[in-house]
Amino acid sequence: MDISVLLPKQVWEVWEIMENKTLSGGQGEVHKLKRKSDGIIGCCKVIHEEHIQSKERRYRMQQEVNALKLLQGAGTPNIIQDNADDWDKNDIPLYAITEWIDGPTLTKYVNGKPKSLDIALSIVNALLTTLDKCHQAGIYHRDIKPDNIILSNKKFEEPILIDFGMAWSHPSNEGLQEFQTNAGQEIGNRFFRLPEYAPGSHLHNPCSDVTMALGILIYIITGQAPRILLDPQGKKPHEALFQKIPQDVIFDSRWQRLQRVFNVGFQYEVSLRYTSANELKIAIATLQPKDKDVDKVADALAKVNLIRESNIIQRLENFQEQALRAMNCFFQTFMTSIHEISFQGGGQGPTIIEQGFTVQAYLLISRKDCNEPQVYFANRICFEANSFKALYCVDNNWYDYYNGPLSDAESLIEEVEASTTPILEKILNIYSEKLQIIQKHPKLL
Ligand SMILES: Nc1ncnc2c1ncn2[C@@H]1O[C@H](COP(=O)(O)OP(=O)(O)O)[C@@H](O)[C@H]1O
Ligand SMILES: [Mg+2]
Repeated sequence: MDISVLLPKQVWEVWEIMENKTLSGGQGEVHKLKRKSDGIIGCCKVIHEEHIQSKERRYRMQQEVNALKLLQGAGTPNIIQDNADDWDKNDIPLYAITEWIDGPTLTKYVNGKPKSLDIALSIVNALLTTLDKCHQAGIYHRDIKPDNIILSNKKFEEPILIDFGMAWSHPSNEGLQEFQTNAGQEIGNRFFRLPEYAPGSHLHNPCSDVTMALGILIYIITGQAPRILLDPQGKKPHEALFQKIPQDVIFDSRWQRLQRVFNVGFQYEVSLRYTSANELKIAIATLQPKDKDVDKVADALAKVNLIRESNIIQRLENFQEQALRAMNCFFQTFMTSIHEISFQGGGQGPTIIEQGFTVQAYLLISRKDCNEPQVYFANRICFEANSFKALYCVDNNWYDYYNGPLSDAESLIEEVEASTTPILEKILNIYSEKLQIIQKHPKLL
């Protein structure tokens, strides 16, 4: 198509044709232009000659221009000059000049060969940022495919989403509501057909763009278009294309979670998929399994162990060990003694308390199978500045019974074990007192 004849003179006052070559998509024709004043390169899109008078194509073109204007670049091309307002005047050829995005389309870049997971995630992550922006503006692209993504300057962080010719805009966007897609027409594309895009079921939902973005992800890692959401065997794209997924990806620590992401995003039921671009973005950002967290626990534990290795803590732990040994000896002897006289004890065996400076056991003692009356006692070993101090408590009264050097664990053990006798004696005395009180109970008189 000779645009130098077709387009109005106000275009040629500003622009000149740069290359005679035209790029042709499904809807329109694309020409590379140069702005005479500053050499800026533009991309001029015109409707294919045979559709120039088509009301729907013209409507779509103004829809595209207005969407791009609303989005104002960053992830999408900026509009530089257009006559989309004349869309309803059939005799005026429509054009839109956007900035020229230099770089290969995703189709050209992938060229049927799998790319790394990092590249795929980087591209899709940036694409989701753009989609989130579109959706926030009430614009659903509906034609996401590798031909409509240009890797600006060949950078994976800067995929530019083009071709808003199929986009649906929220009716609240002024000027965009005059014409709606004929419900009998199929939208979307053959790169990845979604059931909700089938003729007759035009759903206005951001989920479909999000699912298409996941289709882009599977495309980059396999080099293959997903084509359909469920194959005749009921397989989702990542299952159907499993043989094409490189070993590098399958052995990647992120693969397990990525499969779950595909399982959600490729649900047949729209309501079961990711509901927003951001939701998928978050899922993609957390693909690394928790072993990073395990590392954190290991780091924290290493710190604990480092402190424990210090001389001071080693000294304390050494005393604790000796005190625990002494208290365990007591505990065993004590429990044997009470069982022999048909008493029972419930409470806590030796534990370290009070910042590590005390080892204690406490119990409630009563006759076997008879919880009342009961007598409380505790036995304790404390670390003083230079000595072990041992004391016990029976029914709220404390009795010191040992004070000896920290370097003599054997004497400590002997004394603590021997405390069984006075403790038991005191317990039984208190027990008698409690029984005597019961003896005087009015019910027994
Ligand atoms: N702004 C741009 N910069 C560079 N190339 C572009 C630009 N817009 C479109 N193209 C190229 O032209 C092709 C067709 O454009 P597109 O907007 O997708 O039209 P269609 O609706 O016909 O598919 C794209 O696949 C891409 O190769
Ligand atoms: Mg296109």
